[in-house]
Amino acid sequence: MTETENIKVENELTRMLNIRFPLVMAPMFLVSNEAMLAAGIEAGILACFPSLNYRNESELQSVLEKMNDRIHNRKGKYGNYGMNLIVQKANPWFKKHLDICIRMKVPVVITSLGNPESTINAAHTYGGKVFCDVINLAHAEKCAKAGCDGFVAVGQGAGGHAGPYPLILLTEALKKRFPDLPVMAAGGIANGRALLSSLASGASAGYCGTRFIASTEADVSAEYKQAIVRHKMEDIIMTSRISGTPCSVINTEFAQKIGTEQNWFEKMMSRNSKTKKYFKMLVQRRGFNWLEAAVKPGNYQNLWCAGQSVEMVDEIQSIQDIVADFIRGYFIAYNELKQMNSY
Ligand SMILES: Cc1cc2nc3c(=O)[nH]c(=O)nc-3n(C[C@H](O)[C@H](O)[C@H](O)COP(=O)(O)O)c2cc1C
Repeated sequence: MTETENIKVENELTRMLNIRFPLVMAPMFLVSNEAMLAAGIEAGILACFPSLNYRNESELQSVLEKMNDRIHNRKGKYGNYGMNLIVQKANPWFKKHLDICIRMKVPVVITSLGNPESTINAAHTYGGKVFCDVINLAHAEKCAKAGCDGFVAVGQGAGGHAGPYPLILLTEALKKRFPDLPVMAAGGIANGRALLSSLASGASAGYCGTRFIASTEADVSAEYKQAIVRHKMEDIIMTSRISGTPCSVINTEFAQKIGTEQNWFEKMMSRNSKTKKYFKMLVQRRGFNWLEAAVKPGNYQNLWCAGQSVEMVDEIQSIQDIVADFIRGYFIAYNELKQMNSY
């Protein structure tokens, strides 16, 4: 038991989600797994995963059953889980995964890349909360109109599909425009100090991905975890070759080989209204295959998705220890600020 285990930092969002500290373990394609979810819930935070990590329906159903049992059997303890749905038309699993989500009453749903309306309506029928990934105010406006419960503000430098704006600016802009909707801040938050700074800019929680790749529970190759520890922020590049949308990866030889931009043919096929949907599916299938190969041990085509927050990751730790460090770092920064003289 660590000295941070009984500490609670509460706000409206932590109460809404039944968590003890305003930290979210973000969903990560091919990285998030059952062990990470279990450890995140046990640590009292919100632990998320993308439904695409369980494309087989019975596997998805089984994970959800286990997580529901876990949160229902915790008797007064904190900790919760959420599932990420890619709501884009090019996701062939969307409808089936949404049906399972409703059947299993997933408590928190995170939507990304598309129109979240049908997901919001469906989750609200059973009391689920829906947070929408947004990178700008225009998309946030649509999500708010559709009735979302809050946002995931995805800022510059985030792992995965990073946004164009600095996180602090996007968070503040969202709070200014939608004061009643809680914001989870994503992009560059890998310790308690960064988390506190996001709360100061108006966020209600930090949404952290990259830090958790270097966890003992993540079931990815040791090479990938060590790459997270070894690389620095200048080693992160954006490439559109994986999904058609810019995605952050470590600048490996293989990343250089595939390049950062789609070629003219790919761009043309992605723009044409007749070919767009199917071509995107093909591009994404190829990208998934690259990434899938790269998380396995002994693979030489290293395509490792990670955000600029690799800068702040110095060791591979258990999720319990990562969360404990977040809490310690948060209070160190908080106390430093409290000691500042003000006149
Ligand atoms: C390896 C990896 C895979 C990701 N996969 C997904 C995903 O499947 N769905 C999603 O909504 N976001 C995905 N993301 C984005 C994260 O959920 C989160 O927004 C991001 O990691 C936050 O920035 P950080 O990496 O600096 O903490 C992924 C990020 C990483 C690093």
